[in-house]
Amino acid sequence: MPKSLLVTGGAGFIGANFVHYWLGQYPEDKVVVLDALTYAGNIANLDPVKDNRNFSFVHGNICDQDLAEKLLREHDADTIVHFAAESHVDRSITGPDAFIETNIIGTHSLLKAAKKLWIDEGLKPEHRFHHVSTDEVYGTLEADDPAFNESTPYAPNSPYSASKAASDHLVRAYLHTYGLQVSTSNCSNNYGPYHFPEKLIPLVITNILFNKALPIYGDGKQIRDWLYVEDHARGIELVINKGIVGECYNIGGINEWTNIDIVQLVCKLMNDTFAEDSELAKRFPEAQAAISGDAASLITYVKDRPGHDRRYAIDPTKAEGELGYVPAESFETGIKKTLQWYLDNEEWWSKVMDGSYQDWVESQYG
Ligand code: NAD
Ligand code: TYD
Repeated sequence: MPKSLLVTGGAGFIGANFVHYWLGQYPEDKVVVLDALTYAGNIANLDPVKDNRNFSFVHGNICDQDLAEKLLREHDADTIVHFAAESHVDRSITGPDAFIETNIIGTHSLLKAAKKLWIDEGLKPEHRFHHVSTDEVYGTLEADDPAFNESTPYAPNSPYSASKAASDHLVRAYLHTYGLQVSTSNCSNNYGPYHFPEKLIPLVITNILFNKALPIYGDGKQIRDWLYVEDHARGIELVINKGIVGECYNIGGINEWTNIDIVQLVCKLMNDTFAEDSELAKRFPEAQAAISGDAASLITYVKDRPGHDRRYAIDPTKAEGELGYVPAESFETGIKKTLQWYLDNEEWWSKVMDGSYQDWVESQYG
């Protein structure tokens, strides 16, 4: 039976990759994306599906409960996949209000809309509200601590992770109190195409192309557990299709790296790519360090992020055992694909970075 999905935040990094993946896997399903097109949302991320007759896009805010109800009704939706969020830790430190508004109030507004239609009006006895969350809700690990599992107590440390933790608790409460059929996935750091260039990996790639400093916070020994974005989409697919209502699943690929090692790796791959392809030096003449085979000379240690979590690591045993979750992409292939995507999609990131995309959004949507 085809599903009808309301995907929030589908013009962002992970949401867009999820929509491409889902419509590729389930061409008969309907997908409507609800996205506010904040600085992080980009309608061009949905270009690969824009002509699909089962896809539609609505520009709007998840805090608008009436709009969410209207969309659920009009599209006869039985599934919500909730990605929309403010997602950048550094921004949550300098401006936490937007995180409270979207991540907590916005999630609650969507929960209320889903409850009203699916439970109170009884429109969809079988439904699913899937909430996309993060491993950051568990706080930080010491070097020899076991990885986060689904029983690890919540201990969020940044306004971002605290707002995500609050939303996770609201989702749980809507199952226990009202019987809303929910599930939650908590994933580790993603990387891949369409990643906004304020986050570590795309920032390093694009800065190398402009010969700009590669800022390493603190000592650079913080550890993150990286997963290719399509493997996150596969994990969410499994939770929606096979996951037990009310359960949470940790998704990750057992791939821990220190920040400095990741940056060194990207530098090496950029050096190699420039050495192999002489056209690149012509296309990116500013990339002098990479052209001379020494992108790592751009590495610059800077002041640490306040409250910087030392280590994240996901234990995916439950998703592996109960859902058969196995990531498809190795880190070696995934990072090379990602780098190549940024080299091939200069138009995408240059528009996103120089503000001309936001000007276009203003002109189209006000
Ligand atoms: P992103 O910042 O790239 O995209 C967020 C999207 O949400 C954007 O399209 C934005 O326009 C939209 N949005 C923001 N506020 C909105 C609002 N009020 N109403 C409607 N739309 C709004 O984020 P991402 O990296 O794609 O993350 C997606 C989800 O996955 C988030 O919930 C995040 O917490 C979670 N997550 C991210 C990672 C990661 O590594 N990026 C890891 C685990 C979990
Ligand atoms: P980020 O991509 O912002 O993801 P998160 O904070 O959600 O893990 O950052 C990944 C790691 O890289 C994190 O430990 C902070 C660090 N970092 C830097 O050292 N320099 C940078 O310029 C950025 C953006 C991040």
